Amino acid sequence: MTTANRQITLAHRPEGQLAQSCFSRSDDNPAPTPGEGEALGKVEWLSIDPTIRMWMAMDTYLPAIEIGAPIRSAGLVRVVESDNPALAVGTLVFATPGWQEYAIVTERDQVVPEGVDPTAALSIFGITGITAYFGLLDIGRPTEGETVVVSGAAGSTGSIVGQIAKIKGCRVVGIAGSDDKCSWLTNELGFDAAINYRSENVAAKLRETCPDGIDVYFDNVGGDILEAAIGHLALRGRVVMCGAISQYNDSAPSPGPRNLSALISKRGRMEGFIVLDYLKRSGEAIQDLATWLAEGRLTFTVDVMEGLDSAPDALMKLFDGGNTGKMMVRL
Ligand SMILES: NC(=O)c1ccc[n+]([C@@H]2O[C@H](COP(=O)([O-])OP(=O)(O)OC[C@H]3O[C@@H](n4cnc5c(N)ncnc54)[C@H](OP(=O)(O)O)[C@@H]3O)[C@@H](O)[C@H]2O)c1
Repeated sequence: MTTANRQITLAHRPEGQLAQSCFSRSDDNPAPTPGEGEALGKVEWLSIDPTIRMWMAMDTYLPAIEIGAPIRSAGLVRVVESDNPALAVGTLVFATPGWQEYAIVTERDQVVPEGVDPTAALSIFGITGITAYFGLLDIGRPTEGETVVVSGAAGSTGSIVGQIAKIKGCRVVGIAGSDDKCSWLTNELGFDAAINYRSENVAAKLRETCPDGIDVYFDNVGGDILEAAIGHLALRGRVVMCGAISQYNDSAPSPGPRNLSALISKRGRMEGFIVLDYLKRSGEAIQDLATWLAEGRLTFTVDVMEGLDSAPDALMKLFDGGNTGKMMVRL
């Protein structure tokens, strides 16, 4: 008897805000059959990332998801059928299963070490931690005493960036979308200040909270907030281009930032990066992150929704700020 494999697939490319109509559900696909050296896994967790919205719409650093294909997504998969000893039945694997119940895993996927909590594997020791660590330290290169500003600060990546910057002896200002998130950043995570971009004038608050200018701006959102940060860069300031979530739903390219020439007089640098380029070095990040966690200097927060059917809502939550910390779905 074949095993049924429920899937959520791409119905049509999104234009503007994501909507339920972008997604189709199908219950009648058979689970895939593993080839030689491959294993069949049951998907247990899905990582919900803003970049999925980009993959649904267009070719980026990866080809666009095909219409009718399961929504591409990283996740954790438990091996249920295998004749490969490196992928024994019961092994938990970090893979890119997509939004479905069963997926093929191969030796190119990463085995999650015994004893690592799945939520940690999918956040602090996964894309989130590696993005925050290398984006801040390799691209931003903050030094002790410098001022670091991070947007999307109460989200998955931003909340880790700010804490690493504190560990490195920096002054840290977070930008987030609610007073509750701002209080969480300053009261729980040790940020020095936080700005609510929905209710406060970001440019004015940056001048107030960063009197010597911004040495490193870690950008998760793009748009007006990026422009405000460029306008207040310190001499030799660095802008880490991690993401631009404020623009992912735009149907036409956005015009800003209008003040890029400020980089000339400030001798500033803007540099983008994609975490995939750092996967070979992930061990360096994981070692430091694990040490800081064990020492109680770093915490991570997850936002879990239940069931495959909740995945579209979980993705949409990222765009209205409904999440705090790493958004994930448990199947
Ligand atoms: N370069 C890479 O390799 C890489 C890797 C991972 C992630 N990223 C990027 O990093 C960013 C953060 O990703 P994440 O996974 O950590 O997601 P996340 O920060 O956990 O969630 C997204 C957050 O963005 C904020 N947001 C949504 N719309 C916004 C808007 N119009 N203006 C300002 N803030 C807005 C929301 O918080 P508020 O309540 O504060 O609005 C939301 O919680 C994304 O841009 C993502 O694409 C890049």
